[in-house]
Amino acid sequence: MLICIDHVLSQAEVAQFRAELDAADWLDGALTAGTLASSVKRNEQIADGSELALRLGQQILRRLAATPLFISAALPRTIHPPKFNRYTGGGAYGAHVDSALMALPGTARKMRTDLSATLFLAEPEDYDGGVLEVEGPFGVQEVKLPAGDMVLYPSSSLHRVTPVTRGARVASFFWIESLVADETERTLLFDLDQSVQQITPLLAADDMRLVQLTGVYHNLLRRWGRP
Ligand code: NI
Repeated sequence: MLICIDHVLSQAEVAQFRAELDAADWLDGALTAGTLASSVKRNEQIADGSELALRLGQQILRRLAATPLFISAALPRTIHPPKFNRYTGGGAYGAHVDSALMALPGTARKMRTDLSATLFLAEPEDYDGGVLEVEGPFGVQEVKLPAGDMVLYPSSSLHRVTPVTRGARVASFFWIESLVADETERTLLFDLDQSVQQITPLLAADDMRLVQLTGVYHNLLRRWGRP
């Protein structure tokens, strides 16, 4: 499932990010792609581990920790430090599936990528192309969101970024290892949680139907979650 989360960053935060990123040094993105991916990847990135990437990345992670829709959808165990990329002048990223396992910077361990995230940092009207196309069970879904909004999609899906023919597409992207690895189970939990959230204001806090539904959620999470 593809989940869009509005206003992860405010307009003021987007402006701050852009001022810092636009003034920064960018590297050829092909340097950081795997062997297969490097042949289809044409964009630029901020150096991983640079002071700027770490600081802005931390800022994003703090906002995500305070975003209930993200927690409900991703049930995150580990989040890869956010990266930053820019597509200009025909830059694109051809169809690919993200690597299943990624090294966690600063640690000896690897994380499994269950969900991929793109946080848009340019307004859609400021560039042509640059659409994120994600293949799903019902065909290709096209994503191009307002600056500050984020999309979550399964890392297992085939996806691409179409050529940017005008302007610049600036974004942050990263991966999430979920407490619930299975996409179907995670989606069921998300749907149940969202329904419970929606009916909660309609019922008394001690309404037994609500207590029971909440219990079902936690007992399914107990079954499917792997802390
Ligand atoms: Ni990708």
